[in-house]
Amino acid sequence: MLTTDATGAGASTGREIDLFSQEFAADPFPVYSRLRSSAPVHYDPATRLWLVSRDEDIRKVLLDSATYRNDNALRPVLPLRLPALRIMERVGFNIPPALFNNSGDSHAGLRGIVLRMFSAQRVREALPMIERVTAEELDLLEAALEVEGRCDVASTAARTIPIRVMLEMLGIAGLSEVDTATVAEWTDAFITLFWGRTDKDEQRLLAGRASDFYAWLCDLAELREVPDGSLLAALAAHRMPDGSPMTRDEIVAICSNLLVAGHVTTSQMISTALCRALESPDEWQALQAGGPERAEAFVEETLRREPSLTAWRRITSRETTLNGVELPADAELLLLLTSAGTDPEAFEDPEGICPFRDSGRQHLGFGLGRHRCPGAELARAEGRVFLDMAARRFPNLRAADADGPPFLELVSFRAPSRLLVAQTDGK
Ligand code: HEM
Repeated sequence: MLTTDATGAGASTGREIDLFSQEFAADPFPVYSRLRSSAPVHYDPATRLWLVSRDEDIRKVLLDSATYRNDNALRPVLPLRLPALRIMERVGFNIPPALFNNSGDSHAGLRGIVLRMFSAQRVREALPMIERVTAEELDLLEAALEVEGRCDVASTAARTIPIRVMLEMLGIAGLSEVDTATVAEWTDAFITLFWGRTDKDEQRLLAGRASDFYAWLCDLAELREVPDGSLLAALAAHRMPDGSPMTRDEIVAICSNLLVAGHVTTSQMISTALCRALESPDEWQALQAGGPERAEAFVEETLRREPSLTAWRRITSRETTLNGVELPADAELLLLLTSAGTDPEAFEDPEGICPFRDSGRQHLGFGLGRHRCPGAELARAEGRVFLDMAARRFPNLRAADADGPPFLELVSFRAPSRLLVAQTDGK
């Protein structure tokens, strides 16, 4: 049952929403639907976040970066406990304003560097590398299927391709002896610590990994000899608005923004797209016949209907009103991007998967406005190459989790946490 909050400070759902539960992660659509129709700006006491669920309202927020700032985007959603904080303090863990958490005047210059590194031209030039990396990871999938009969794609190919691609594109691949599996483990730990609900012991473990990630980035930021054209070279040459060079912590912040955003989200998008494509044998066949165009259109639907960055935060710089709800200054908002993508006011047949729909790219899966994703073309390319190659190479692939896959239980990221696949002919 939906009720209106007696305080008048926004409507509330009569039933509590547990944003961290498996029930919500596996099927958030009924909750979004209830929110949109009865409490489109709803205060969630458990997280102290205002949940914004309508496409139209979210667009307004994203386009008004003076009223709705992003300074809170990289704070842990739930407070971290002392033991975890102490572990992080030991390495001086600190993420100063970079991109995701920067509403100040240094944002534009830093964003310019990233836009150049991931321009459409650079993505085109990177395609042969993306295809090579994808083919190599699919070789490993084939071998695993032959030996084991089944394989978890979420923790193998889907996870490894984006991190390898990202390290190559940033020019970090040859600079470090740390292997890709370790970097992926660190970035996973970081998002679980900051966007999950964890107990004290889990927090300690995750804080240790996040600190190792941070210490590794500090070492990279202090390297004196870096390849021309690499991200580190661009950051070393960059000057902040006051004319000063970037500090080590600022360089680390940009690198961590890019490694986490550029790897985790794309891995999750690949897993979700594959999961949905395998749910329908007709779609899997259509992908085999349809080539890269079909794969691209399918990925776009995944980004609309189930984007990996499922919700993102903002904070009000002053008192304001959103959809009739009064928000105080410093109100923290959670913009439910998945809800926007399945809003019937914005999309026809919103929960259906309809590749080539007219509204194609008009979703908020990559955000909008000042902070819109600069990695969108890269993510699309990786998704398209993966689905196209996988469908042609494994025509008999099928999902092997009898009850459907489990999903990550995180506030801002959503994807299958495991995606078991096998072949119908057993090969
Ligand atoms: C499927 C994959 C991806 C999804 C769903 C996604 C989603 C998003 C969204 C929704 C935003 C807007 C955040 C906001 O408004 O504050 C964003 C920003 C950003 N994304 Fe992506 N992203 C993806 C892939 C990538 C990749 C591959 C990169 C690496 C190049 C990247 C780097 C960034 C950065 C640096 C920002 C912050 C931009 C700024 O604040 O100016 N993302 N992303």
